[in-house]
Amino acid sequence: MKTKIFCDIAELDKIRRFNKKKIVKGFTTNPSLMRKAGAKDYKSYSQKILKICKNKPVSLEVFADEYNEMKIQALKINTWAKNVYVKVPVVNSKGKFMGKIIRELNNQKIKLNITAVYTAMQTQKILKVIDKKTKVIISIFAGRAGDAGKDPVPEFIKSISLAKRFKNVEILWASVREPYNYLQAKQLGCHVITVPPSTIEKIEKFGETFDMLTVGTVKNFLIDSKKSKFKI
Ligand code: E4P
Repeated sequence: MKTKIFCDIAELDKIRRFNKKKIVKGFTTNPSLMRKAGAKDYKSYSQKILKICKNKPVSLEVFADEYNEMKIQALKINTWAKNVYVKVPVVNSKGKFMGKIIRELNNQKIKLNITAVYTAMQTQKILKVIDKKTKVIISIFAGRAGDAGKDPVPEFIKSISLAKRFKNVEILWASVREPYNYLQAKQLGCHVITVPPSTIEKIEKFGETFDMLTVGTVKNFLIDSKKSKFKI
């Protein structure tokens, strides 16, 4: 199975550039990335993204923390374009499972990307509230799990196996930390991996042999020691 590469991004100029790449099959973003990119008005900024990217899936996240407001935001975001996946967190900031809203949006045939998932138990809970037709992405945050000293791989293995009965569900490796994560995601059978732009550029350059790497490494050390005019 092929693992699709999405781009995890918010800067408009970079979205423009990465949208042209064949290797990039879709986009994800989040409120933190949008803030970093300088977005001020969430709706108009999101619509600028959607104007650039019309033919690939784009996941845009709700940021409300309570049921009513979250539902309103999700319904609005869903109307912004055909290629939108509404990104809904698996729990709110109080740790409450967002099952009711996931069920209702899925019921209305709204494409969802369930975000901030860490465990197969959460995957199981999501699968219990969705149908087998409407598209759902489940984003498992590998890098942040690793940052906390937790191994995300067993959670992926179980989640992928649980999702097998659902042809409409894709397991997405989120929170990438290094290019090698792409090979891990492929090996595990993840449907998608979402990758920051600079890491995509490294993946595009995959293929150097160990011999090339060893020579390149020594060359870089040599260049830097010359630049610093080191002497002993
Ligand atoms: C996924 O959809 C998220 O936007 C993203 O992968 C989070 O990554 P981070 O942990 O590097 O912030």
